[in-house]
Amino acid sequence: MSYSDAMFKNKELEEEVIVVTGGGTGLGKSMTKYFLELGAKVVITSRKMGKLETTAQELSTQKTAGEILPVQCDVRSFDQVENMLQTTLDKFGKVTGLLNNAAGNFISPTERLSARAFDTIIDIVLKGSKNCTLAFGKHWIKAKQTKATVLNIVTTYSWTGSAYVVPSAAAKAGVLAMTRSLAVEWAKYHIRLNAIAPGPFPTKGAWDRLLPGDLKEKFDITKKVPLGRVGNHQELANLAAYLLSDYSAYINGEVITIDGGEWLKGAGEFNMFEQVPQTFWDMLETMIRNKK
Ligand code: HXC
Ligand code: NAP
Repeated sequence: MSYSDAMFKNKELEEEVIVVTGGGTGLGKSMTKYFLELGAKVVITSRKMGKLETTAQELSTQKTAGEILPVQCDVRSFDQVENMLQTTLDKFGKVTGLLNNAAGNFISPTERLSARAFDTIIDIVLKGSKNCTLAFGKHWIKAKQTKATVLNIVTTYSWTGSAYVVPSAAAKAGVLAMTRSLAVEWAKYHIRLNAIAPGPFPTKGAWDRLLPGDLKEKFDITKKVPLGRVGNHQELANLAAYLLSDYSAYINGEVITIDGGEWLKGAGEFNMFEQVPQTFWDMLETMIRNKK
């Protein structure tokens, strides 16, 4: 087997109805595709209905076991989120999972940002995840649902912070804090909350805004990753399917990093010794031993 293979093979999600925000593109689309293969009913939502319809059409021709419904919804509006939830309930009768995946981001020195630019990112990422989580949580609690899961896509800089993407870092840190807080508060309502922190997984949306032009070639991102490669969409989809399934029923309030060791490489005090050729170690050891 390979890491690009599907982990579950049967209809492990056939009882699930999952809403994927930002499900029309990139990682949201890849996760949606896999959930459908596993028999889930999936609602994909974002601002651009055309994109959602194209994706829904493409994925429904693939003869998956599941069913897909595109619903327009700007997660920044609580009213639109409530409508999207109602549309989901009208169509499928229930909802069991919420995947907060929608995001906005671009690189910029922070002092170049207008107040509105900063707000735009905070509103999509933090307020959007809050709107969806609050609307779905209220519904689940009122309906006395016996099982529900929220999965939030954050980043590794949710806890390290990162220069040049400050609004995104601040917003994702908020989403992570919300994940951990509600995991405790809402466990009594049988609602689990977890997060995934992906490292680099190439998508058009992220790459065009974070590595524009020839920066993709200039900054070889694989050099930042100890495993020497970027992520494969299927390995993220495998993790997401697991966290939304009952196989992970005892995992609550966790953030799982899937980055090939990237953030730790940047963090460890002496990790720069990776650059020292093997042949130097005899000499270095002799120098150190001589310092008695
Ligand atoms: C400075 C900018 C800017 C830029 C926009 N703005 N782009 N400021 N540099 N490059 C400013 C605008 O001038 C405006 O402020 C404000 O931001 C809002 O811009 P709009 O275009 O009106 O906003 P909107 O149409 O809502 O679009 C939102 C967006 C856009 C975030 C700007 O890029 C988008 O739709 N993104 C969605 C997809 C996305 O970002 N995917 C990447 C996710 S990757 P003023 O003051 O002029 O009105 C990710 C993590 C990756 O999240 C981690 C990798 C390891
Ligand atoms: P992407 O394709 O650009 O996905 C972002 C999605 O969010 C788009 O489908 C977009 O659709 C939607 N969206 C943006 N604003 C919205 C709004 N106001 N309301 C509803 N939907 C909105 O990028 P991606 O790389 O797949 O990112 C997916 C997730 O992974 C994000 O949370 C991102 O932070 C995270 N992530 C990605 C990477 C990576 O390497 N790719 C690494 C770490 C974390 P519309 O434009 O139609 O609204």
